Amino acid sequence: MELNNSIAAVVTGGASGLGAATAKALAAKGVKVSLFDLNEELGKKHAADIGGAFFKCDVTNEQNVVDALAAARKAHGQERILVNCAGIGVAKRISRRVKETGAIEPHDLATFTKVIQINLIGTFLMISKSCIGMQAVEPLNKDGERGVIICTASVAAQDGQIGQVAYSASKGGVASMTLPIARDLSKDGIRVNSILPGLFLTPMFAGLSEEAQRSLAASVPFPARLGSPTEYAQLAVQICENIMLNGECIRLDGALRMAPR
Ligand SMILES: NC(=O)c1ccc[n+]([C@@H]2O[C@H](COP(=O)([O-])OP(=O)(O)OC[C@H]3O[C@@H](n4cnc5c(N)ncnc54)[C@H](O)[C@@H]3O)[C@@H](O)[C@H]2O)c1
Repeated sequence: MELNNSIAAVVTGGASGLGAATAKALAAKGVKVSLFDLNEELGKKHAADIGGAFFKCDVTNEQNVVDALAAARKAHGQERILVNCAGIGVAKRISRRVKETGAIEPHDLATFTKVIQINLIGTFLMISKSCIGMQAVEPLNKDGERGVIICTASVAAQDGQIGQVAYSASKGGVASMTLPIARDLSKDGIRVNSILPGLFLTPMFAGLSEEAQRSLAASVPFPARLGSPTEYAQLAVQICENIMLNGECIRLDGALRMAPR
């Protein structure tokens, strides 16, 4: 897909981290970008910085998603690009021994459900409501391309660590649905790919001590550092531009393979 000012994009989680960097990179190519996020303050500020628009949207809420897409389409026209970056992390084992009493407690269902709701069902909702708009518009080029969808899984989809049962399940779901959705939408010229990031320096990590950041960085074979959100954005742009990339899950991790802990 040729990126220019005739193309509109929706980026969820666009107020922060990987989504914010992707929104900025797309805007730099001239794309009209709509940021969807819960964080209104950061979202509005970032949208103003990159000349885009912000729409408050909880990706787990079907009506919110429908309304935000309608508002974005009114502002910029039908989105040809959807980038799903909204997500949360959580650290909890499948069970834990309570120090004080010695009792063994299971992972609570509420936390598990919340992570699945945001990371997996939120991604599904965005794709299912966005693709019907993409399917209804004319192709952009002689290959018949109508749109491109990018999801954000994680290396935890493949090598989840201790305490990542909920997160890995959610990201495994995102990775697993990539190919069937790409196949479902192939007749309409809509490509679907997922990025599996390793360790990226976003607000999620910026809160860690320098020592913790150094030790995480040292676990990456090469380059032995945390990734920059701009490097994620670079791959997202390449996925949009390279029509042969379809139905794939791409690790972006400096050869990192996560250890059990
Ligand atoms: N940073 C990393 O190293 C890393 C590694 C692997 C995967 N990921 C994934 O990349 C994605 C982006 O992560 P990040 O590091 O940029 O995190 P981040 O916290 O900087 O950004 C996530 C954004 O998602 C938004 N969000 C959360 N719940 C939402 C909801 N229900 N509706 C709408 N927006 C919501 C937040 O407000 C936030 O702005 C996440 O899915 C994360 O799991 C990140």
